[in-house]
Amino acid sequence: MHIENNVTDRNREALDSLVRKGDRREPFLFVGRDAVFEDVEKQLWELREAGRSLDNAHVIEGPPGSGKTSVLRELRNTYIHSEDVLPVHLTGNHLNHPSQFVGTFAESCGFGNNFVHGTTQKAYQGTLGIKGITLGVGYGSSKLTPVERLQTGEPVWSVLNNCLEVPSDKLFIVLIDEAQRVRATYEDLNDIAISLGDGETGQLKVFTVFSGLSDTRQKLSDVGVSPRITGSKPSRLSTLQESEVQLVLDEFWSHSQFGFHDIPANTLAAFNQAIIETSECYPRHLQAYMRGIAGELVSGTPRITLERVLEIGHEFRVDHYEDVLDRVDFGEYGEALTECLRQRGTGETFTAYEVKDIAKTKFGMTNERIDTVFHQCIHCGVFEVDDQYEKVKRHLQVPIPSLRTHLSTGRDRKKTIELLRDRCRHLLSAPCHG
Ligand SMILES: Nc1ncnc2c1ncn2[C@@H]1O[C@H](COP(=O)(O)OP(=O)(O)O)[C@@H](O)[C@H]1O
Ligand SMILES: [Mg+2]
Repeated sequence: MHIENNVTDRNREALDSLVRKGDRREPFLFVGRDAVFEDVEKQLWELREAGRSLDNAHVIEGPPGSGKTSVLRELRNTYIHSEDVLPVHLTGNHLNHPSQFVGTFAESCGFGNNFVHGTTQKAYQGTLGIKGITLGVGYGSSKLTPVERLQTGEPVWSVLNNCLEVPSDKLFIVLIDEAQRVRATYEDLNDIAISLGDGETGQLKVFTVFSGLSDTRQKLSDVGVSPRITGSKPSRLSTLQESEVQLVLDEFWSHSQFGFHDIPANTLAAFNQAIIETSECYPRHLQAYMRGIAGELVSGTPRITLERVLEIGHEFRVDHYEDVLDRVDFGEYGEALTECLRQRGTGETFTAYEVKDIAKTKFGMTNERIDTVFHQCIHCGVFEVDDQYEKVKRHLQVPIPSLRTHLSTGRDRKKTIELLRDRCRHLLSAPCHG
């Protein structure tokens, strides 16, 4: 079973771009995640109607590759053309520097990059705001730039409220990707992050969506964001539905720029089935298949067989897990995990507390070192904590489904197992949860 390579030069360009951009590419078809969109829409509606929503923020959590960035991009795309909602798209890093935050915010309103750095209002004449937003009176009369005003200790929201004249019917949706990167060490960050969560933003009506790894609420809580937000139930991203993956694949095969044609229906069905099964509908793995197929075609292979496609997926996952596990310096924490598993048996859930206890008492690890490894594990996607993260008994689970499958059943034995055994033999029997 195979697919002929009929690509033309024109197709090659499109396929090349798919290969090059890799994971950073916007999905050509965004699917699923309806609940997130419904939640956000509902809360925006409340904010619009009441001037203030009960919760002014929403948190999205998920392991690497589960599609958080894609959801935020899709939210931005949804509201960019809206009459009254203005998306402001940032990463957690932007919050660490107030001037970056103010700059990006102003940029989203249609004022150029020179906004924060110019010296007099003159520099901004001619830069037009969008959606009816203009430069404010306060800014016009001030001789100080926004950065200078921040440097004098003026709070971020006061500067923004003063600089921008925003009609009262406009709302902002502030999308903060990689929100786990916020750092508690910056005082100003507290101002920004707290008010983003609590809606204390002066005249500006702001709804915030934070997205990040499974300790995002913990990190936000560390910088003082209200428990109402950090304690609320986040949207959790993981696998897509089979029917959604099917839609993505249909789009892939019929995408006119990629040049697939005349592929027999049964061939397509077999390819799709294999991809759905082995990717376990995990967004990043799915994307890797499409990228891999594109790469093969560009390299000039006369045809792609089903075996080759499966090999591509397998190679990707092995490399990916190797990378994931390489980035964690397990040390004796790995031993403690093993010990914990030995006591509890494979397939059981266990808690961070139990592992920590063993790591401390049996292996003499310090709290600090344990926390470091623990956070590395979360950040690299080896496991995640469950919803009850505030409680001591945080359940650990391996969130990426095929990693979980590999670790718990060793289904795809051979090379993967060898590699994993090399790097972290302890995790081979990690629990399979959910
Ligand atoms: N809902 C979705 N529909 C289609 N493709 C998706 C979807 N979510 C993610 N992807 C694809 O999966 C890959 C990883 O997604 P990304 O948003 O970068 O994950 P994260 O930010 O959680 O690490 C990307 O290549 C993206 O194109
Ligand atoms: Mg991301």
